[in-house]
Amino acid sequence: MATRPTNERDRAAHWSSVYERNRPDTVSWYQRDPAMSLALVEALGLEPDTAVLDVGGGTSPLLPALLDRGFVDVTVLDIAEAALAQSRAVVGEDPRARWIAADLLTWVPPRRYGLWHDRAVLHFFTGDEVLAYRRILDAALSPGGAVVLATFAPDGPEQCSGLPVTRYGPQALAGLLGEGFELADARVEDHTTPGGAVQRFTWIVARRSGSARMA
Ligand SMILES: C[S@@+](CC[C@H](N)C(=O)[O-])C[C@H]1O[C@@H](n2cnc3c(N)ncnc32)[C@H](O)[C@@H]1O
Repeated sequence: MATRPTNERDRAAHWSSVYERNRPDTVSWYQRDPAMSLALVEALGLEPDTAVLDVGGGTSPLLPALLDRGFVDVTVLDIAEAALAQSRAVVGEDPRARWIAADLLTWVPPRRYGLWHDRAVLHFFTGDEVLAYRRILDAALSPGGAVVLATFAPDGPEQCSGLPVTRYGPQALAGLLGEGFELADARVEDHTTPGGAVQRFTWIVARRSGSARMA
């Protein structure tokens, strides 16, 4: 197992190397159709001009899928520039899409977003990193904004991309958001990797109340 990167330089090196060495459709988290994300976003009933932030979005097909559904303000943030270059190559220059190359844990959000989406990023973080993640989520999310989080489930894999992960059930994920958020939905999903392995994910959707955690 690779050593867990604990600083920005090592995190960037790890993830850049992953995307430089692997085709996007061969990584374990690859999905051709981001069906669960789209179902949960649709259930939220967001306006198409809602500002969407996909943290650690990498080369996910969620960005083009949201553009196809009429969203006009979608940002993908990722630490791996190689991933963002691949995403940009798929979508092409499009005023509705933005790509931010940054380490989420040190990023200072320049604006607010109405939806924070995270599939398989939070679970890499531990201790102070989780606290930083929560602070940044608070700073980035609009009052009344929605959060969609997906991590490996308690009976899911113990590692991803050679790194250990923290596994969460819905209550633990909701507890991480804490007061000021209302749990709207929780799901379990079995994701099949390109190699045929089944990975169980926990998904939650929560709404920010708009008062307790205002930045
Ligand atoms: C398991 S992949 C999931 C990618 C994408 N969310 C998806 O579902 O296809 C984890 C992603 O998080 C990104 N990542 C990891 N640590 C990060 C950090 N500290 N800041 C921003 N992105 C990060 C990686 O580069 C990678 O694209």
